Amino acid sequence: MPQPEHRLPPGLLTLADYEQQARDVLPHPVYEYIAGGCGSELSLNANPSAFDAIGLYTRVLQDFSGASTRQTLLGLNLKHPILLAPLAHQKLVHPSGELATAEACEAADTPLVVSTLSSHKMEDIARHNSGDRWFQLYWQRDRGVTLDLVKRAEQSGHRAIVITVDTPVTALRYRAQRAGFSLPAEVSEANLAEYPKLSPRTLKREDSVIFSGFMADAPTWKDIAWLKTQTQLPILLKGITHPGDARLAMESGLDGVIVSNHGGRSLDGIPATVKLLPAVRRAVDKNFPVLLDGGIRRGSDIFKAKALGANAVLVGRSQAYALAVAGALGVAHMLRLLKDELEVTMALAGCPTLADINETCIY
Ligand code: FNR
Ligand code: LAC
Repeated sequence: MPQPEHRLPPGLLTLADYEQQARDVLPHPVYEYIAGGCGSELSLNANPSAFDAIGLYTRVLQDFSGASTRQTLLGLNLKHPILLAPLAHQKLVHPSGELATAEACEAADTPLVVSTLSSHKMEDIARHNSGDRWFQLYWQRDRGVTLDLVKRAEQSGHRAIVITVDTPVTALRYRAQRAGFSLPAEVSEANLAEYPKLSPRTLKREDSVIFSGFMADAPTWKDIAWLKTQTQLPILLKGITHPGDARLAMESGLDGVIVSNHGGRSLDGIPATVKLLPAVRRAVDKNFPVLLDGGIRRGSDIFKAKALGANAVLVGRSQAYALAVAGALGVAHMLRLLKDELEVTMALAGCPTLADINETCIY
């Protein structure tokens, strides 16, 4: 399945090329699991379409001496405003899975957000990456386990906790189901392997599995406030779409939000994230970090997100496609493509620094 890793296959000029080649090399059910969204895929399709619909102006004859894409974010010195989004189960697409992704991130100076559901343990991933990492937390039914994950993340050098709050219930992923996708035995949830498996809650006949099962285990604002008292690490909430929730996150003393519809995999019907962004930005203080993911496929998409108020963006599926097609080299190359495209966009739009990118750049 994977290509030899010292050389890139020909024809990889854009992230779309990676997706196309990944479709050819991956088993169909795995591709459908990654590429698919939930429900009728309204949100999945909305994310990239909304970027396409945003026009840009050129601004000409600007002085680019000292131009840069650097910025700081929650203690990170970012060379580009790009992070890799948490993406579960990466052994599905490559035998080295997250270890290869971690090596690519270090080589490409790009922070990685490690998923709770990674197929290698966070401690092993850490050994393959001496750069910046954040840990993405899926809340666990047992508070002790939740806290243990956070402590392990601290000890293995992760520099922030990203709590994903948008999928207390797994959405209806018809495409993956139709393709017959299921997680093979060799792709385990390595971070969770050491904890005892809890037996399912006993529900009465009249109980709803959703409300009395899943939602009874889901965290609330009170749980997040408790976790905040248990760690010194910055905490961001991932999966924020409503300005009111962004405001609550800020007022709860949290450190940032990620505007995300989980790549069209949570609630179908959430608008494109880039459309949600301006209202979220307005709802919080100027310096409160607001990140965005969903549909980033080109450097110009990053530029548009910056113009509409995102501090940085995260790249989801494209890392899996690049990993499938060319391993660590592919992921590093995919990031290079995005960075080059961002710099070209900045040059042609007359923005020598990220601080120059604002709404006046948008047609
Ligand atoms: C995800 N996403 C995700 N999010 C998260 O918080 N924890 C996780 O483990 C995963 N796993 C995961 C697996 C796969 C296969 C996909 C496609 C997505 C969501 C991910 O972090 C991100 O929000 C979206 O992928 C961003 O959209 P794009 O870049 O894929 O369009
Ligand atoms: C997904 C989960 C793992 O989107 O977040 O598949």
